[in-house]
Amino acid sequence: MYSVKIISTGLALPSRTITNDDLAKVEETDDAWIRKRTGIGERRFTGDGESANQLALDAARSAFEKSGVSKEQIGLVMVATLSGNYSTPSVASQMQEPLSLPKDIPYLDVNAACSGAAYAIEFARSYLAANLNPQKPYAIVTGVEELSKLLDPSDRTTNIIFGDGAGAVVMTLEEGSYASTLGAESSLAINCGGAKNSISLNTPDASHTPSYIRMDGKEVFRFAVRILPYCISETVSKAGLTFEDIDWFICHQANKRIIDHVVRAMKLPKEKFYCNVDHIGNTSGASIFICLAEMEEQGLLHSGDTLLLAGFGSGLTWGSCVVRYR
Ligand code: UT7
Repeated sequence: MYSVKIISTGLALPSRTITNDDLAKVEETDDAWIRKRTGIGERRFTGDGESANQLALDAARSAFEKSGVSKEQIGLVMVATLSGNYSTPSVASQMQEPLSLPKDIPYLDVNAACSGAAYAIEFARSYLAANLNPQKPYAIVTGVEELSKLLDPSDRTTNIIFGDGAGAVVMTLEEGSYASTLGAESSLAINCGGAKNSISLNTPDASHTPSYIRMDGKEVFRFAVRILPYCISETVSKAGLTFEDIDWFICHQANKRIIDHVVRAMKLPKEKFYCNVDHIGNTSGASIFICLAEMEEQGLLHSGDTLLLAGFGSGLTWGSCVVRYR
């Protein structure tokens, strides 16, 4: 079985830090409420000259430069996102020229919302495993979101949790145990701001009415605490591993209380769960990539570490996979 080996990571965060106190100046909320309900203290928002595409490019460039891989060895470029600069062209395709990457390889975005990391990594793995281009055994996989542009300033349930940022990995394959668990359950749909889903974002209509993320937070919370333990258990067992074999559990960073709940329900050691939601907020498809990049920067990842990635999000979707660090 071909497993995923992460070679290097990259990180790009926008320049503006928005604290809970900053939010409390413009809406009825407060630092204590946000910290207690979500664990979030601050998040980053894009400022002048910053955008999703630029953040994705910076993170991908950083991962690529650190990898020691030549551009001729890159066989695939993928981006997990729901908030690129354009519906088309894709964020991924816009990396070809600035990174001087080959023209004869696929560039594509994947939209699985907050499950984006596992979806993108699994599809990159499957593509590389097909071995269509043996000279190009590496993929650059990036997660980016610029959710600040999709937040309704009058909706305090969404604009306190979401933030912007990008993370990237260069990955390849190695022999080893691997499994992924990907899925969606659209029957969970409830009517939430237009589209029938617990988290939704309509495409702009002909009147150019701004389009905002709508979310039923409680519904999503209930879904998350049910699906994450399922995803984690399924993936670990399908890979022929035990929980003890996992060095780090890296969950989508939506809300600290969701992660705490998973730790308690599964009776797993909480020090094995990386959490950065306090200073990054919820960056949807970028969140697991940002965790990986921060962990590498902090020296928390060691050669041969086994990492369990698990996310959930709009769809409602879920995704988890097990990967190894170089
Ligand atoms: O990435 C995947 C997508 N999203 C998620 O995973 C989100 C999962 N859900 C959540 O994180 C939580 O549901 C939220 C943080 C969004 C909301 O927390 P909650 O505990 O579900 O709060 P609630 O919406 O039930 O509101 C409780 C109370 C309400 O007041 P009353 O009716 O009890 O008087 C709200 O009006 O808190 C009030 N409230 C707030 N108060 C201060 C709601 N938002 C705020 C706020 N500041 N920002």
